[in-house]
Amino acid sequence: MPLCTTGELVADAASHHGAVVALNVITLEHIEAVIAAAEHVNEPVILQVSENAVKFRAGRLHPVAAAAVAAARAGTVPVALHLDHVKSGELLRQAADCGFSSVMFDAAHLSYEENVTATRTAADWAHSNGLWLEAELGEVGGKDGNGPLDAHAPGARTEPGEARRFVEETGVDALAVAIGSSHAMTTRDAALDHTLLAALHDAVPVPLVLHGSSGVPDAEIRRAVAGGISKVNIGTALSIAMTGAIRAQLDADPRGVDPRHYLAAGRRAVTDTVVQLLTTVAAAPVG
Ligand code: G3H
Ligand code: ZN
Repeated sequence: MPLCTTGELVADAASHHGAVVALNVITLEHIEAVIAAAEHVNEPVILQVSENAVKFRAGRLHPVAAAAVAAARAGTVPVALHLDHVKSGELLRQAADCGFSSVMFDAAHLSYEENVTATRTAADWAHSNGLWLEAELGEVGGKDGNGPLDAHAPGARTEPGEARRFVEETGVDALAVAIGSSHAMTTRDAALDHTLLAALHDAVPVPLVLHGSSGVPDAEIRRAVAGGISKVNIGTALSIAMTGAIRAQLDADPRGVDPRHYLAAGRRAVTDTVVQLLTTVAAAPVG
């Protein structure tokens, strides 16, 4: 099936009061596992490659992007490619040529004014090159090995009035909001601020994105989708599944040397996890 765009998938999900799930992929096994899961439940999906995943690939975007494009085209469900948590302008400018339809430009660590300036420049460039641009206001903590932000820290929550102004001033197509989730959680006990989400949904004229969803329990994810989240980003849950399955396989066969045995186990575990996540999001009540 030809690649579709993130903009189409998010708009379609938002028009039905639902959300599209965006999954971070690092290896070919992640890519295959996510597409297999999407085909199993017949749901569209977004494959995300983060700037950190590109760093892991010696700074080269093209090889992993080419694998994702080829796997998506061979699949039977709609798949879009998204470049995630981009800080580098150089990486942003490679997105369209590598098959990505969208980029999340991450300047949330900057002051409000600096975030606006950097994001507006990125959005202008993205739009003139046919890309859909997501940005972040208020900081979802836990990035790059930093712990979650204290709930009372400045920026730990997105303020609705500022969010509306940010979208007007930058022209972004979607906004990642800080409502209580945090990146890289290995427990699923984040409590979201649904009152704040309702206020953001009222104030902000573009789709809202939930980052750090691995730490959010199923019921909270469903409630957030019903409350106006249109894109659900998940990465760490896949790492937990893959690493756990590979560890178990190696423990069970300590003399084995064929990487296909443990990679297959890891890939199966990622597929099972993604099937469960896609089913959870698809089952969200209409808000
Ligand atoms: O942008 C990616 C997501 O926010 C992933 O967060 O790894 O905590 O699920 P997570
Ligand atoms: Zn994120």
